[in-house]
Amino acid sequence: MAVLRINGGKRLYGETVVQGAKNSALPCLAAAALGRECIVHNCPDLTDTKAGLKILNALGVETSFENNTVITRAPKCLSCSKINDELMKEMRSSVMFLGAILSKCGEAEISYPGGCSIGARPIDLHLKAFSQMGVNIREEGERIFCKVEKLKDAKIKLAFPSVGATENIMLLGVVSDCEFEIENPAREPEILDLRNFLNSMGGNISEGKNGNLLIKGVKALGNTEYKIIPDRIVALTYLSGIALCGGYGEIKAVRPDHIKLPLKFLEEAGNDIKCGEDYIEIKAPRRMREFGIINTMPYPDFPTDAQAIFMAASLLSKGESCFVENIFENRFGHIPEFLKMGANIRICDNSALVSGVKRLKGTELYAKDLRGGAALVVVALSAKGESIIHNTEFIDRGYENIERSFSDFGGEIVREG
Ligand code: EPZ
Repeated sequence: MAVLRINGGKRLYGETVVQGAKNSALPCLAAAALGRECIVHNCPDLTDTKAGLKILNALGVETSFENNTVITRAPKCLSCSKINDELMKEMRSSVMFLGAILSKCGEAEISYPGGCSIGARPIDLHLKAFSQMGVNIREEGERIFCKVEKLKDAKIKLAFPSVGATENIMLLGVVSDCEFEIENPAREPEILDLRNFLNSMGGNISEGKNGNLLIKGVKALGNTEYKIIPDRIVALTYLSGIALCGGYGEIKAVRPDHIKLPLKFLEEAGNDIKCGEDYIEIKAPRRMREFGIINTMPYPDFPTDAQAIFMAASLLSKGESCFVENIFENRFGHIPEFLKMGANIRICDNSALVSGVKRLKGTELYAKDLRGGAALVVVALSAKGESIIHNTEFIDRGYENIERSFSDFGGEIVREG
């Protein structure tokens, strides 16, 4: 398997362009099954987006993917209403195709998506919402059988603003003769991107009173040409690398308004940040101050996907930073790897207290999940000496070419094998 070989300890200088958002591309690909012909620009070339295209092909949707543009042609009726088990295992977020399949076929069958290294990842909120909307759900062992009796108007109150559940409700309700209101919906930028994508196809989704999401079903969706938003977590990965290693960088094709709170933390820790409409310039201090307390919470609070990456950035800072992971139950898999490099971190329940150290040393490192793996790259670039990062397949799920991007900043990082 490929590894990333990194020779760390250098300041980073340069610029790079941010890829399209993985967590926007995936639901938009599911939504494309509901239309006729969709042209989707700025789609990141990732193992996860390729898995999404495989699912579309298995459902009978024609797809092409070139230079980050996906073109889909969906048939009036899908050729099947199942997502095969291998694809469900390959990518658990395949569950977001459920709403689209149910909308097109009136029935769907999937195996339970199962958990991953960061948590159990249940889908009870998805299924509860579906049954409120008029879907009959039968669970047999590891399989879920859904059948649309007759969709009915529903006001769905989400106990937690689940991103996936909000997306699945939109995908099931957008083509119907009903009206749905979601109370306590997820508000991530990727949710707004899916809403804009569906509306560009002829959907009618809007924001109601106190931020509720209103879905007025329409008869059918048509064609669209659309550009996916930039990936805010990938942008934060590059910013954290420069903040930790020192230096200066320009991050292009980014939406600073999607990462206001994380940028504030970077500024308060001593980084000079200058934002334009679609770029961010960062000038790192010689040594960052502590971040203080970072609580991961639903948007617009601090994103859980940036927790490992910001913890990486805190390892050499003065003072103490505390990271409280409130979203996933097992999202500290990167900490043992940080400790191997000489970091000073104490874990208590879902909190990790980082005391900044003066130096870190390179060593053999093992990625355990997507964002934790990216955080290892950030730390290895700052550590003295050589690091080898294994299990790069986790990182490739969310980063088009992490080694090329950090090489754009002068980082010594190569992929081998
Ligand atoms: C999406 O996952 C993202 N994935 C995740 O990004 C991200 O971390 C997460 O949202 C939170 O922002 C994609 O968009 C493909 P949730 P999702 O439903 O939809 C609990 C990455 O690194 N929950 O908002 O699965 C759940 O256990 C990935 O790119 C239920 O209890 O997230 C978790 O604790 C990792 N029941 C919390 O809610 C449910 O039915 C957040 O889950 C659904 C969720």
